[in-house]
Formats: sequence, C-alpha cells, structure tokens
Amino acid sequence: MSIFKNPAMAGFIRLCDDGWRQGWHERNGGNLTYRLTAEEEGACHPYWRATPGDWRPLGVTAPNLADACFIATGSGKYFRNVSAAPQDNLCVVQLNGAGDAWRVVWGLEAGGRPTSELPTHILNHSVRKQATDGACRVIYHAHTPSLIALTYVLPLTDRAFTRALWQSATECPVVFPGGVGVVPWMVPGGAEIALATAGLMQRYDAAVWAHHGLFCSGPDFDTTFGLMHTIEKAADIHVRALSCGQGIRQTIPDDGLRAIAQAFGVALNQDFLD
Ligand code: 13P
Ligand code: ZN
Repeated sequence: MSIFKNPAMAGFIRLCDDGWRQGWHERNGGNLTYRLTAEEEGACHPYWRATPGDWRPLGVTAPNLADACFIATGSGKYFRNVSAAPQDNLCVVQLNGAGDAWRVVWGLEAGGRPTSELPTHILNHSVRKQATDGACRVIYHAHTPSLIALTYVLPLTDRAFTRALWQSATECPVVFPGGVGVVPWMVPGGAEIALATAGLMQRYDAAVWAHHGLFCSGPDFDTTFGLMHTIEKAADIHVRALSCGQGIRQTIPDDGLRAIAQAFGVALNQDFLD
C-alpha cells in the first residue's frame, strides 16, 4: 500500500493536475487544502514522519478545527510538479488543540512549508465547516485569468460580480445561487486578508480576490473544481462579450434568473435581484 492510493490523496493530486491544465497555476500560483476525515486520517497515519515538524503559529485561530489534519500544497511549489513528485510538493499539516498553530506530519520531503495562504485556507475551512454543518472539506485558490481581468473593469462589489456572472451563462445561478463575494485588493499571505475572506465565506462559497484570483469551497474535489471552472468560464464569456466592443446589448433578465431558480429548485440570493 501507499499513501497515494488513499482516495483523498489521489483526488487532491488529480485536482492539482486539472487546475494546471486549465492554465490557472503559473509558476507556484494557487494553493489547495483538504480536511481529512477521521477515517482518512487513520489510513494515512502509518505514513507520517517518525518525528513531526515543529509547531508554528498560524496567525489566526480556528477553535472548531482543533487537532484537524489537512492535505496542503507547499509554499513556492508548482501545481505542475505535484503528480510527478507529490511527496516533495504536498504535505499533511495538523492543527494543535487551540486551533492556532500547525506542524507538518507528512510530505515536503525535500524541505519547505505549507502554502503562505494557510491562514486564509484554515479560516475559510472554519467558517465553511460551520456554515455547512461539517460538509465542507475543500478550499481551493486559483489564478483564474478572465475573472482577474474583470476585477479591472467591474465595480468591486459582491452585487456587480454576482450579477455579471449569473447573466453570463444560464447554468450559473444553479451552480452558485448564493452569489460570490469580492475582497478588495490586499497584500496576500497574512491574517488580514484571511479575516476579510472568511468574513465573506460565511455567506458565500466563493470569494474573488481583486487583481489576484478566486477562492472556492466545497464538500469534495469535483464540486469545488466545478465551481472554480464554472465561475471562470462565465467570466471568460463576459470578457469575450465586452471585447466585441458593442457593450452588453442584451442579457438574461431578472425574471429569467427567477425562472431558472424555480425550475431547478434553488434559492437565489435575493440581495442581487432587482
Ligand atoms: P504559495 O506558493 O505560498 O501557495 O503562494 C501562491 C499564491 O497563489 C499566493 O496567493
Ligand atoms: Zn494567489
């Protein structure tokens, strides 16, 4: 047996490859974390380091994730290289009992540390776990080019982005009926952007980082990757429509959005309808 046969590890590696092939992960761009179930943790435990790494402060606190273990991409590691050498590019990190410090228990065999966005990932896990009764397990950050382009031309509001994306493809209101949040431009990699993002993730399962990328959450790899893919494709359609140079002449009307929601049995966030 190998730790890579574990479905959680295999699914994690597959998502890294899928994201790389989409063109969302130049160099070390983007990061991914997955909260292991107790059963997965038990199955992976035999492969852990004999001596775990030292405890390091997280910079934020997530009491509802005490002692939890996460598969995480390494800081400065390339998604492109994950499937070729997962043991060097990924790690399993464990939180302490207070939820305010982490240590590496597996992986990063050639050295390194977990993603610099660990504070945002862990706070997002914390709020999404609470908002979904424990269902959320995946937090995924990607540098999605069309969505980033839109952060230069649309107002940086939840409403402007949600409406533009919902109107850009008929399936969008079904895939993210709650809408998306928008974090203004901030320095990445610290507690401040983690708190701003997690504040939005209490209400949304996706948050745009202006001039940077997108965070998505979900219960499994398929749903989370699918959300990233759907939002980026909608953004790409919007960019293409704007690029025709005629402006947006017609779009899905609000009553059309309501009709989609009714037909597919989803509750649209009413804040974003006229
Ligand atoms: P890491 O290599 O530390 O994960 O950083 C990449 C990134 O996208 C920062 O936002
Ligand atoms: Zn980034």
